[in-house]
Amino acid sequence: MNALDLIAAKRDGLPLSGEAVSFLVRAFTRGDLPDYQMSAFLMAVCLRGMDEAETASLTRAMLESGVRLSWDAPGEAGLRVGDKHSTGGVGDKTSFLVGPLAAACGVAVPMIAGRGLGHTGGTVDKLEAVPGLCAELPLARLTAQVREIGLAISGQTPEIAPADGRIYALRDVTCTVESIPLIAASIMSKKLAEGLQALVMDVKCGRGAFMREEERARELARTIARIGAAHGVAVTALVTAMDQPLGVAAGNAVEIEEACALLRGERPEGCEDVRALSLELAGHLVFGAGAALSVQEARAMAARALQSGRAFEIFCRMAAAQGGDAALLRRPGLLPQARERLLLRAPRAGFVTRCDALGLGKACVRLGAGRSVLGERVDPAAGILLLAKEGDRVAAGEPLAELRASSPERLDAALSLAAEAYGVGEEMPVLGRLVRGVLSSLPGGGVSTRS
Ligand code: URA
Repeated sequence: MNALDLIAAKRDGLPLSGEAVSFLVRAFTRGDLPDYQMSAFLMAVCLRGMDEAETASLTRAMLESGVRLSWDAPGEAGLRVGDKHSTGGVGDKTSFLVGPLAAACGVAVPMIAGRGLGHTGGTVDKLEAVPGLCAELPLARLTAQVREIGLAISGQTPEIAPADGRIYALRDVTCTVESIPLIAASIMSKKLAEGLQALVMDVKCGRGAFMREEERARELARTIARIGAAHGVAVTALVTAMDQPLGVAAGNAVEIEEACALLRGERPEGCEDVRALSLELAGHLVFGAGAALSVQEARAMAARALQSGRAFEIFCRMAAAQGGDAALLRRPGLLPQARERLLLRAPRAGFVTRCDALGLGKACVRLGAGRSVLGERVDPAAGILLLAKEGDRVAAGEPLAELRASSPERLDAALSLAAEAYGVGEEMPVLGRLVRGVLSSLPGGGVSTRS
């Protein structure tokens, strides 16, 4: 087989056989296919797409580039293992709630998470904002921690879908993220490697999501659910709106602060969407893993775990086990703080009609909270606090957002993007629903859809 012929075939819109897809992935993982040829292939996939069989082959090839965890050691019979994953958004800190909530309800969560991709934030970058916390755990430590505490959140280890690790990094810097087969295969290769029984997916749609249109997000959700069903994993995918950021913080330490406030049982203003979505995702995960008889019961169990502080204790134990200073999570203001701050003010009185997640995500990158080139270091303290969101009434000159960075130059670079992200008008905007649909895999391989 010749890599150039295969790249050309995909460029011309021809479907590739399973062997061909596997050949390319294996050659790339071995280092025999250079980055520029893999980039050309990825761009061809972005433009031409892949059918269901090709997507399944890509997922399998990436999964088989590494190991698959198993949770059937003596004494582990009956262990329920599940995970949550998001396709990527701005201000999305739900993983820090869903993981501990599920663990508190009896579902072990070996969460393999990613770094920021494009304008979206990454769970691993956010966790590393906790001083001392290691979010790149060796596999043996990750599995031991899951067995002991019920939860570990870590970046991809070299053993878990290494082909995805390298392809993901390349996609981030070659504008090849927004592709249904590439996203589905990337997510599912990692998730299948975790040896899960259940997966809850948050598939974002809207201005700040990789899938802008709801219909494309549903297609991604269906693709993921079908891959899960084919591998015996119960997948529930919630299609959720990502037009404006979730909650009130976007960045790294600021998002951990917000998640901890919610885990401590506080109800900060503007964070109700994060709390509600986290409980919904946790409910589907706990039910999918078989730890409750219905989603309603599972949601109620998760709500009790939040209220009682049990989920927060698990999060703190996890942070400490990973080397983090958990005392810094118990009170606000102790995580890294930015030296420079700037208020963005409303240009006129009215209603906030737009609080654009894409623009604010890009502004976060300029502030230093994300990266523009491969391997760049992110600033744990950089980010944005949203002081007004869609539907809020503001007076002229009232603060809309606070930008945080380590230098005035960074603030300047982000200011115009943040200002353009906000719209203030006379009419109260119509606010859409956060959860737009729920799709679940069926044991026979089909997918059921609600709303
Ligand atoms: N999350 C992933 O793991 N992969 C993608 O391609 C996009 C989001």
